Amino acid sequence: RTAPAVGDSFFPYTTENGKFVNHYDNELPYWWTDGFWTGILWMMYEATGEKMYLEYANKLEDKLDAVIEDFQTLHHDVGFMWLLSSVANYRLTGNEKARTRGLHVASTLAGRFNPDGNFIRAWNTNPADDFDNAGWAIIDSMMNIPLLYWATEETKDPRFKSIAMKHADTLMKNAIRPDGSVKHIMEFNPETGEYIKNHTGQSFSEEASWTRGQSWALYGFTLSYIHTGKKEYLDAAKSVAHYFIANSVEDPVPPCDFRSPEEPAYKDTTAGLCAACGLLEIAKAVPEYEKKMYRNAALRILKATEERYCDWSDTEDSIVQYGTEAYHFGGKNIPIIYADYYFIEALLKLKGEYTLLW
Ligand code: GLY
Repeated sequence: RTAPAVGDSFFPYTTENGKFVNHYDNELPYWWTDGFWTGILWMMYEATGEKMYLEYANKLEDKLDAVIEDFQTLHHDVGFMWLLSSVANYRLTGNEKARTRGLHVASTLAGRFNPDGNFIRAWNTNPADDFDNAGWAIIDSMMNIPLLYWATEETKDPRFKSIAMKHADTLMKNAIRPDGSVKHIMEFNPETGEYIKNHTGQSFSEEASWTRGQSWALYGFTLSYIHTGKKEYLDAAKSVAHYFIANSVEDPVPPCDFRSPEEPAYKDTTAGLCAACGLLEIAKAVPEYEKKMYRNAALRILKATEERYCDWSDTEDSIVQYGTEAYHFGGKNIPIIYADYYFIEALLKLKGEYTLLW
C-alpha cells in the first residue's frame, strides 16, 4: 500500500497524521536514514519478485547521485545509505552502475580514516561549532564499515578491509566497557591518536548506555566477524548482547537509554529491532548449544514489538511505532523508518528469504 503512494518521490523518515514524510526536507538526500526506504524496497523485491519495488528503488538511487556529486554533504554514515541502495541493487541484480556507485562511496569512507589514531572520523568540520570534532569516532560506524568489507570483496584490494579492521579494533578497545555497555562518541587526539574521553552524544549521560548505540555495536561487531572471521569481534558482540539481554528482563523492548530515569518513558523500538537482527546473526555464528539464548532473545523482542508497538491499520503508513531519536534532543516515541526496516529484515531472516545486505 505505501510503496505506490511514496513511489520514487521522496525518502520517508517518519509519519505525520499517518502519512509518510521526510521530516528533514533537505535540499539533497544526504540524511543518514535516506537508504532505509530503498533497503525496504530491495528486501521486498527479493521476497516477492515484484518489479514495482525494483523500479522505485532504482529511481531513488539515481537521486542519491546528487549527494555523491556534491561531496560536501557526504559523511561517516554512507554505509547506511549506499549498502541499502546501490550495493543491495548490485547484490540482487548485478547492476554495474550500482557497483560503481558503491565503490565510489566506499572510497570516500576509506578517505575518512585517520592513520595516526586508527579510526574513521565521524562527521565533518562545521565552522559554526565552537569545538573541533576531527578526533571523534562513533559506535554507529560499526554498521557502516561493512561497505569497506564489500569493497575489498569486489576489488580484491585489501586496503578497504584493512581500514575497517583497524577501526573496529580501535572501537573494540575504547568504546566497549568491561561490563558490555557501550559509549557513543569517542574523542581521540587527531594527531597522536591518544584516547581522550567519551561524549554523551545521544545517550542520557557520559556514563550511560544509549540503547541504539548498544545495538549498533551488537550487530556491527557481529558483521565484522562475519566478514573477517576474527573471533574477537564475535566475542565483543556477545558481550554487548549479554549486557543488552540482562537489561531486557522486565521488557524486551528497550528504553532510549538503559541507564536513564524511568520517567519520562522514552521507548526505542529501533534499538530493539536492530539488536534482534544482530542476535539472529550471533545465533547463526555460535556453536549449536549456544544458539538458543540469542535466538530466543531476538524472538522475545520481535513478539513484544509486534504485540505492543505496531500499528497495522490502513490509516498509518508506518508499521512500528515508538522509536526515539536521542535522549536529550529530537523526536521521542515516534515512528522511524529504520524500525520498519529492521523489523522486516528480522522477519525475512526468520523466513529464510533474506540476503545479507550489510
Ligand atoms: N546514526 C544516528 C542514530 O542512530 O541516530
